[in-house]
Amino acid sequence: MSDQAEVLRELMRTTTGQPVESKQSITENNQEHKTRVITIASGKGGVGKTNFATNLGIALASFDKKVVLMDADLGMANINVLLGFIPKYNLYHLIRKQKTLNEIIVNTKYGVKVIGGASGFSRIANLSDAERYTVVSGLLALSEADYLIIDAGAGVSNNVLAFVNAADESIIVTTPEPTSITDAYGIIKIIATESDNWSPKIHLVVNRVQSASQGKKVAERMSSIVATFLNTKIEYLGYVYEDSKIYEAVRKQKPFFVYAPRSKASQCILQTAKIVGNITELDNKGIKSFLRRLAKHTAVDMKR
Ligand SMILES: Nc1ncnc2c1ncn2[C@@H]1O[C@H](COP(=O)(O)OP(=O)(O)O)[C@@H](O)[C@H]1O
Ligand SMILES: [Mg+2]
Repeated sequence: MSDQAEVLRELMRTTTGQPVESKQSITENNQEHKTRVITIASGKGGVGKTNFATNLGIALASFDKKVVLMDADLGMANINVLLGFIPKYNLYHLIRKQKTLNEIIVNTKYGVKVIGGASGFSRIANLSDAERYTVVSGLLALSEADYLIIDAGAGVSNNVLAFVNAADESIIVTTPEPTSITDAYGIIKIIATESDNWSPKIHLVVNRVQSASQGKKVAERMSSIVATFLNTKIEYLGYVYEDSKIYEAVRKQKPFFVYAPRSKASQCILQTAKIVGNITELDNKGIKSFLRRLAKHTAVDMKR
């Protein structure tokens, strides 16, 4: 048993215990400053998660918040495509100890920082103790951020669920299409029933709506079904209009919130970001707790 494995186990056991390593300042920081960790996921792919996560992050950053976007979608890591840059390094280099967190994180001109994941995250459920320690202790430096927003991808793979279950809050994105709604229910069901004694707060966003009332209807139906069959509460966070400006912005590789700030979609994002910023009743636990749960979930996955 390596020392690192022991430290990792300690991190998994305690919330306020010993510092993970000699990074005293980070630990102290973390006690004062609680980063909100929000995972964006969906049942079905192509519902607008990456656009939502990226533009929500940019909107929150426009309120002078420190926002880190993490691209944890394995199959289709594309936050960088939406923002028009090619990341040099990603989580893989952190795992391999080739780069530090500061070297893999990209400062964008949109006020958000981005961590590219792709090849690194595809291995997150299969990391050795030593590798997981490297990731977890590397990411601890994120405790300076106000928000860590994770684009976790679609579906109910171990990878998506590990991130969703580790975060304080999860935003499930759906469209009004029946297939998207059914698949959203599928992932909510797994979040609600799978977790041991910890469950993230579940929010719903309805994307590509024709009207506000369409979004509200989808959310009401989903809330009532989830309450009846899963005995779980979900909060409706808001909707985003179907808007051709999004398509245009994606083609130009610019975030629509910046490309078309007056568009209907951008107004919806602004409103949603305000709601996210105003949620105060949260008992968010910060980065350390998130990483502890992530380590635990991935460790459990390994035993499966
Ligand atoms: N509100 C919207 N209005 C119009 N088109 C949208 C909207 N949201 C997403 N899209 C379209 O859907 C595509 C997929 O969105 P994306 O965010 O990549 O989805 P996901 O991450 O869920 O796979 C976008 O490139 C865009 O063309
Ligand atoms: Mg995506």
